Amino acid sequence: MELGDRVVLVTGGANGIGRAICCRIAQERPRGIVIADRDLDAAREVASEIGGIAVACDVSCEEDVKAVVERTLQEYGRIDAVISNAGVTSKGGFETPDADWDRLWRVNVLAHVYLSRAAVPKMVEQGGGAFVVTASAAGLLTEIGSAAYSVTKHGAVAFAEWLSVHYRNQGLKVACLCPAGVATNFLDLDDPIHQFLHLSSVTPEHVADCVIEALRQETFLVLPHPEVGEFFEFKTKDYDRWLHNFAHVNTRLNRLNERAAAKAQTSAE
Ligand SMILES: NC(=O)c1ccc[n+]([C@@H]2O[C@H](COP(=O)([O-])OP(=O)(O)OC[C@H]3O[C@@H](n4cnc5c(N)ncnc54)[C@H](O)[C@@H]3O)[C@@H](O)[C@H]2O)c1
Repeated sequence: MELGDRVVLVTGGANGIGRAICCRIAQERPRGIVIADRDLDAAREVASEIGGIAVACDVSCEEDVKAVVERTLQEYGRIDAVISNAGVTSKGGFETPDADWDRLWRVNVLAHVYLSRAAVPKMVEQGGGAFVVTASAAGLLTEIGSAAYSVTKHGAVAFAEWLSVHYRNQGLKVACLCPAGVATNFLDLDDPIHQFLHLSSVTPEHVADCVIEALRQETFLVLPHPEVGEFFEFKTKDYDRWLHNFAHVNTRLNRLNERAAAKAQTSAE
């Protein structure tokens, strides 16, 4: 899909990857762009910079999601592309409190369901559209240090696959964005695991270019880091060896974590 003269809705568009996607879309001269985010002030800044509309929206709340799709239709009369990008993370393993599992489930998985429920029937009625799910490399591989993020991003990939299979023949082009580290505020640079991700991080602008290209080429998997595709291929070829290698990386990162904690303890004393 070419985005010139199209109407596009971007969630989590106020910061980071979503913001870069909004700015990149603006260069394509769309008919309209709606920036939906719970951070309304930052969304307004993006909107005034690129000439879009900012709408306050918590994507984990279905009423908010419905309202933002309705607002898009009222304003522009149609909706051609949805970039379902807002996402959150948490640290920890199975001890992660249920409240955090629930929060990540709602934002990283259910929000895509709510958005598709509100927008896809309209797109199908219009003869087609595009739906981009921002998942993560964690949804194809795993996220060392976050069980809830790994599981919910796998859920996001699974939902994107499901949507593509069920609506492909009704004109819906689905893409699934799976970056590894991206230099945004999402990365906590005090955390050795995120420092590790930052070593190979790419810019949000590069990710935005990859999304535009994937929409143009109508490809499903969007991989701003080509090595993620290689790891994914390796995983499917030799699952046990892949698990062995990741367990090794996990051990090394845990050691770094312990050293960082010991250093922080010493400097606090
Ligand atoms: N930065 C990375 O390293 C990285 C890597 C892989 C995937 N991702 C994914 O990319 C997406 C964007 O991440 P980012 O790096 O731009 O993060 P970011 O924190 O810079 O921006 C996220 C945006 O989403 C908004 N948001 C969060 N929860 C929301 C909610 N409930 N309702 C509405 N808006 C909400 C925030 O206000 C913010 O504007 C996320 O889905 C994230 O999981 C990020």
